[in-house]
Amino acid sequence: MTLGALACTGNGLHRGVAGVSLDHVTRVPYDGYLGDGVDTLEGLRRQLADPSSGVVPPAAFIVEVIQAEGGVNVATAEWLRAVQEMAREHDSLFIIDDIQVGMGRTGTFFSFEKMGLDPDIVVLAKGLGGYGTPIAMVMIKPERDKWGPGEHTGTFRGPGLSFIAGAEALSFFEDDALMKDVVSKGARTDERLAAMAKKHGAIKAVRSAGMIHGVECTSGAAANKAINAAFEAGAIFSTCGPGGRVIKLIAPLTIEDDVLDKGLDILDKSLAKAS
Ligand SMILES: Cc1ncc(COP(=O)(O)O)c(C=O)c1O
Repeated sequence: MTLGALACTGNGLHRGVAGVSLDHVTRVPYDGYLGDGVDTLEGLRRQLADPSSGVVPPAAFIVEVIQAEGGVNVATAEWLRAVQEMAREHDSLFIIDDIQVGMGRTGTFFSFEKMGLDPDIVVLAKGLGGYGTPIAMVMIKPERDKWGPGEHTGTFRGPGLSFIAGAEALSFFEDDALMKDVVSKGARTDERLAAMAKKHGAIKAVRSAGMIHGVECTSGAAANKAINAAFEAGAIFSTCGPGGRVIKLIAPLTIEDDVLDKGLDILDKSLAKAS
């Protein structure tokens, strides 16, 4: 991983391992971070429009359509278009990190489809390797691509198994069967989580898009209690978001209905123990 890539993460634990300062990245509050109805881009918009603000346009704006590790925060298309507009206005690149929620996770191949977005660069990984085999991809618009052939290289590139598994994963997008399935399994999970939110005091909010769901608990301790109980019962969940308060559901897109139901049953019982 490059220091540049590491500088982009907000995660304190991962930033801490750099051992050197991580510079050249400025953070702007995500959509919804300052509460409902607050335009989190307005401060930066004004600073960039003011030549005396001391704030100069960045080389690029990089954004997740859904902050996954950040707590399953789902941005509106309107907010994302506003980021894109700012990038265009200041001749900055507009980059979408679709590593976690691309490859069909939200019910479309890219998470930003039908949103009026046209990024200069898109990064993909995770599902790209099919079954978790390591592979990543940086897609750059040809007119923005300044790299010569072989210029971006390394000795650890191109694991063969990942290419085979990845090609197999891509074959699932030859028709819309998988995406229809993702939408229906996502909705099924939404329904189950809404019912859980009504009965378990440990749940503060539920957020989702397709087959990524975040169950925000009242505290990190409550979330931990629930996932530990789930682990004892045979299901693995992880936490994310500030203080680890959010239980993230990110099942394989090809999960069978009965297995999904079983996992949700376990989560239901485990959340009862966390209240
Ligand atoms: C959205 C997003 N971007 C980047 C990364 C980092 O990927 P890697 O660990 O392959 O560097 C992750 C990892 O979870 C991620 O979820």
